[in-house]
Amino acid sequence: MKKQFKKIGVLTSGGDAPGMNAGIRAIVRCAVFHGLEIVGIRRGYSGLINGEFQKFSRRSVANIIQRGGTILETSRCPEMHEGAGRAKAIEALKNEGIDGCVVIGGDGTFRAAEVLGNESDIGFIGVPGTIDNDLWGTDFTIGFNTAVNTALDAIDRIRDTASAFERIFFVEVMGRNSGFIALEVGMAGGAEQIIIPEVKIDLEELCQNLKDSFKRGKRSSIIVVAEGNHTEDTINIAKYVGLRLKVESRVCTLGHIQRGGSPSSTDRILASNLGIAAVEGLINGKKGHAVGEVNSKIVYTPFKETWEKKKSIDDRYFKSIPILSL
Ligand code: F6P
Repeated sequence: MKKQFKKIGVLTSGGDAPGMNAGIRAIVRCAVFHGLEIVGIRRGYSGLINGEFQKFSRRSVANIIQRGGTILETSRCPEMHEGAGRAKAIEALKNEGIDGCVVIGGDGTFRAAEVLGNESDIGFIGVPGTIDNDLWGTDFTIGFNTAVNTALDAIDRIRDTASAFERIFFVEVMGRNSGFIALEVGMAGGAEQIIIPEVKIDLEELCQNLKDSFKRGKRSSIIVVAEGNHTEDTINIAKYVGLRLKVESRVCTLGHIQRGGSPSSTDRILASNLGIAAVEGLINGKKGHAVGEVNSKIVYTPFKETWEKKKSIDDRYFKSIPILSL
């Protein structure tokens, strides 16, 4: 149902992702374009509970499209799991006269927005911003493309030293419960194997494959491991393989490096398109939904589906890696 909005808020929550600033810019400028007042909410839901509001104008978001992180800052807010915390958040929005809110983040951010929307008459809409790319309802989340390119740059460098020393490197990339970064980076970085949470692998088989590749003349290897993999801790995998094959193995954890840096053109454009679609979606009655881009078209997906439905892993990656790494 359509509702007339007067004043909307915007917040970023959970893990920051490159491109969030481009999203904030688009949301602010689109709100101003449609004659709405727009307020920045600092430090995610924690700042919302404390009433950390900042009136925005079109100029407030000048010169941020190229910046990583989020000018609004972010937080993980356990109070959102409690009724008392959510009541404070709703009260703060009401006191400020905010009747609609755009939240940028991942599944935790959307879960909180879904409950706040059900417990009040404030309209919430979500913009998918997480490097993990683990949300249903969009082909890609904001930040994923930049994170992949950042990790890839690191892997290219690691390959230089791996081949200089004839070592096996286990490179751990982010992805708490998902292997999207690992798959993309592994394929583009020429990895010999990719280990992800969605697929449990047999370490003996991994050792045998590496042994075979040494017989074929390989002198070094790169294995990309998603941090949330269910096979083993990356350090233990590296130790096991090193001992079993009697080769030197090393672990490199790329960690939060993947979250930083200037967003790629792909992420800036995605964030700009989704930011506009979020504000216009809210105006056109799409509260309780997350905006996304599927096959280059804007779609709106009910919040719940974004975490309940799971994007499947493209098994071409697993078919291609043994061929490409011969
Ligand atoms: O959700 C994005 C993410 O970067 C995950 O890949 C990672 O597991 C997590 O955030 C790390 O969170 P924090 O910065 O709170 O340690």
